[in-house]
Amino acid sequence: MEKLSFVGKSLPRKDALIKVTGRAAYADDREFAGMLYAAAVRSPRPRIKILSISDARARHTSGYVTLVTYRDIKGVNKWPVVMQDYPFLPEKEARFAGETVALVVAKTAAAAKAAARLVEIKFKELPFIDDPLKSLEKDSIKIYGKDNIISSFVVKKGAVDKAFNNAAYVVEGEFSTNYQVHAYLETQGAIAVPEPDGGVTVHSSTQCPFYVLDAVAAALGLPYHKVKILQTVTGGGFGGKEDVPALVASHAALCAAKTGRPVKLIYGRKEDFQSMSKRHPGWARVAYGADKNGRLIACRVKYVLDGGAYATLSPIVLWRGTVHAAGPYKIANVSIETYAAATNKVPCGAFRGFGQPQICFAQESLIDELAAKIGMDPVDFRMKNMLEPGDKTVTGQRINSSCGLKELVGVVRKRSGWDKKKAEGFRLKAESDKARGIGFSATYYGVGLGAKGRYLDRAGALVNIYKDSSVCVNVGNTEMGQGALTVLAQIAAETLNAPYESVRVEEVDSSKVPDSGPTVASRTTLMSGNAIIEAATPLRGRIFKTAFNLLTAKGADFSRPMVASKGAFSMGGKTVTFREVTAECWNLRQKMSEQGWYAAPRTTFKMENGQGDAYVIYSYSADAAEVEVDLKTGVTKVLKIWAAYDVGKIVNPRLAMGQAQGGILQGMSWALYENLVYKNGIMVNPNFTDYVIATTADKPEYDITFLEKPYAEGPYKAKGMGEVPLIGVAPAVANAIANACGARVRLVPLLPEKVWKEIRMMKN
Ligand code: MTE
Repeated sequence: MEKLSFVGKSLPRKDALIKVTGRAAYADDREFAGMLYAAAVRSPRPRIKILSISDARARHTSGYVTLVTYRDIKGVNKWPVVMQDYPFLPEKEARFAGETVALVVAKTAAAAKAAARLVEIKFKELPFIDDPLKSLEKDSIKIYGKDNIISSFVVKKGAVDKAFNNAAYVVEGEFSTNYQVHAYLETQGAIAVPEPDGGVTVHSSTQCPFYVLDAVAAALGLPYHKVKILQTVTGGGFGGKEDVPALVASHAALCAAKTGRPVKLIYGRKEDFQSMSKRHPGWARVAYGADKNGRLIACRVKYVLDGGAYATLSPIVLWRGTVHAAGPYKIANVSIETYAAATNKVPCGAFRGFGQPQICFAQESLIDELAAKIGMDPVDFRMKNMLEPGDKTVTGQRINSSCGLKELVGVVRKRSGWDKKKAEGFRLKAESDKARGIGFSATYYGVGLGAKGRYLDRAGALVNIYKDSSVCVNVGNTEMGQGALTVLAQIAAETLNAPYESVRVEEVDSSKVPDSGPTVASRTTLMSGNAIIEAATPLRGRIFKTAFNLLTAKGADFSRPMVASKGAFSMGGKTVTFREVTAECWNLRQKMSEQGWYAAPRTTFKMENGQGDAYVIYSYSADAAEVEVDLKTGVTKVLKIWAAYDVGKIVNPRLAMGQAQGGILQGMSWALYENLVYKNGIMVNPNFTDYVIATTADKPEYDITFLEKPYAEGPYKAKGMGEVPLIGVAPAVANAIANACGARVRLVPLLPEKVWKEIRMMKN
């Protein structure tokens, strides 16, 4: 490995100071002269036929300006996201409670909200569906297409029925998981500012500025060059600011277009809960078969996601779940069928892990059940069957050398004291009502969008070196808390040998960089990192050559090698700084600005059998969870998580640790607490009083290890890590509960009442 100055170091976050001092300007902090405010008028019921919308009463609100409906749309009334089924504003039918039906614009935010409450929607209630499994039944009412199926995939390999018939051991189980709310600190928001030439500039809290660009241009019927998207400092996304900010921004833009004034639209927490995307609830029936030696020979999966009322990102989320549904194992005979079913509930979309955590909970729980049936230790069983370099995944993709899964499992086994703890069995303390247990999981994660999003797996970068030697980098992927600005600055600094402090990475401006796809699928470091390297490499050539000439002119002994390190260049006892070198480059009128572009290697997926090289590369994780279960109440406390990750080269160890801890806590929160409830198509707990998430008070002790298996195509050999730490947490916790008290709970969240019920059933 080459000696690195900036990559691999825990350098300070670029955005730390503005965030901790409260100076960061989020969407709601921005003000513009003459600005108006918008508020949404929302559908009150799960499915309605809209008969009329009247602002007769709303008009009397002081400060009221106007009502915006679908009639004000100059472009096409179809939000251009994967499938074009979601209108910007509905014309005849609203398909879930909370859907924006119209917008009110007023002089203050309070007036807009008050007036929105007075807008009258006359409607006829239509029959609705709130259960994805019922939605798929043949005789269900049809609310989406001809069969209520938004999207569906298969993976077929080998002879599954025969393999199950020949299996010495078979397990089968049904599992389900509930919604997860992104709980970003900053709710959704955007400001649209009309430009004198008829264009618009949109300030948007978003993960994906180019999705916002697509949508605003479509809604306003404008060419792209008249629409500029500026990402505002984004207070968390976790996938929840992938698609829907485009809708929010389009609504603000429609209001701005109608009034000719800047319009701000900031969501309240309740409406954000009710109408913005969520992690899909999932249902799965999984079966595994093993031979008498404990080798996995068969796997059958049926996996259903509750897509909600519109497709949004369901096809892509479902596809990732499909590809990973059998787990990180070599299995010759596989049958996976998956469906995203429509319901009249909030449309679900991306959430850290993207359709994988739900199915991983099912398959990794069942792997433990199979090991128990065979009489094998669950870690031994995983070790025996897991993917190693040279093996093929269920889609037939050969795993390359950047695969440290077996080592990860070994590390976690050792560090957690697995063998000793497991041997103790149910560790009931005679005098107490509490039992402790330990559980394991192993996962793999395809980095980037893979074959289903291959046209989007590209990124651009613009690197500018100013006369004073400071460096400005523009990229098309976003910072949302994960540390992209910092990691990408490290990559730029490393490639240019520029001092880290002199490099600034900008929040995205859609007019400065080409469409770089979404900031999802843990792809930023890989994609934007490579684009930066491509842009910086010719600059590096010029800088290094100029440094050599300067050193030679200074009388350096040029028979000695030139060393570039930490922003300085040395040779034969002489040194010049990056600043001196770039000043000389400018004197020589060299080009000090370059663009870069990276397109991921080709990926493939055959729709008829799900075979192909689904992703460019995989990251890996292993988790062990130790829990304490209160046998009287079923309350589970996670005491400690041991985790190990192979995500390639770690660019910033401190940030990577933060991502690991945050991902684990978010995964634990989903596993144990988060319970969004719908009754008759209405969300009943859209707030943080009744929807409980883990806080730092609940955090377990962490023991985290990184094993850096280099990825040759990655920037400085990095892969991707943002989502990986969440995925395996829920099954590790569920397996630990089963180990503690014998209760096998197949529903996430693993609520106390469910654990308690299982304990009671075992006693009876
Ligand atoms: N960490 C913070 N603090 N805030 C976030 O919104 N999003 C997660 C993860 N970590 C997120 C986060 C999600 S969903 C993804 S896909 C990755 O970061 C994206 O970051 P990357 O592409 O830089 O890996």
